[in-house]
Amino acid sequence: MLEKDIKKILISEEEIRDRTVELGKILADEYEDKNPLLLGILRGSVPFLAELVKRMDIPLEMDFMTVSSYHGGTESSGEVKLLLDVATPVTGREIIIVEDIIDTGRTLKYLKELLEHRGAIVKIVTLLDKPEGRVVEIDADYTGFTIPNEFVVGFGLDFDNHYRNLPYVGVLKEEVYNK
Ligand code: XMP
Ligand code: MG
Repeated sequence: MLEKDIKKILISEEEIRDRTVELGKILADEYEDKNPLLLGILRGSVPFLAELVKRMDIPLEMDFMTVSSYHGGTESSGEVKLLLDVATPVTGREIIIVEDIIDTGRTLKYLKELLEHRGAIVKIVTLLDKPEGRVVEIDADYTGFTIPNEFVVGFGLDFDNHYRNLPYVGVLKEEVYNK
């Protein structure tokens, strides 16, 4: 049903699972005694966060924030807005920001600075990185996959809020954008 709108699968379900197992182990090692707060950025990070925490057999907490830099469509507006703040106190806290993708870098730069300003110790894990899209200087500490500069959907990533439920990451057909 949704698959008919997909031009090609970029990262399969199996590849995502394998890489998430690896990342979960790395993070569990690194954060074993730190009771980290995994901070998922809504809504795109939800499938990735869910998969990741299953592979981290250590004490941890989860919370969420919502920011927006997109007004639908496939182009970034440039400004980042805080729509829903984290409920957990973050001062002195070890935080792992969990993101679906870094593109221009604006979202994560904004978030990292905001949380560090509040006294948190912040690292970033992202499922995907599009280095060619970068406009501001920021990098993830842990990356699932580096991808070319194409608009992707699935495993949390959306086009006009759809396709987040695809179990893989794929490229949409042009005719879907131009509808
Ligand atoms: P920036 O540009 O701030 O972007 O690093 C991060 C946010 O932009 C969205 N984004 C995408 N969403 N397919 C999507 O569905 C893409 O290819 C894509 N590139 C960027 C995403 O919401 C991310 O949190
Ligand atoms: Mg997002």
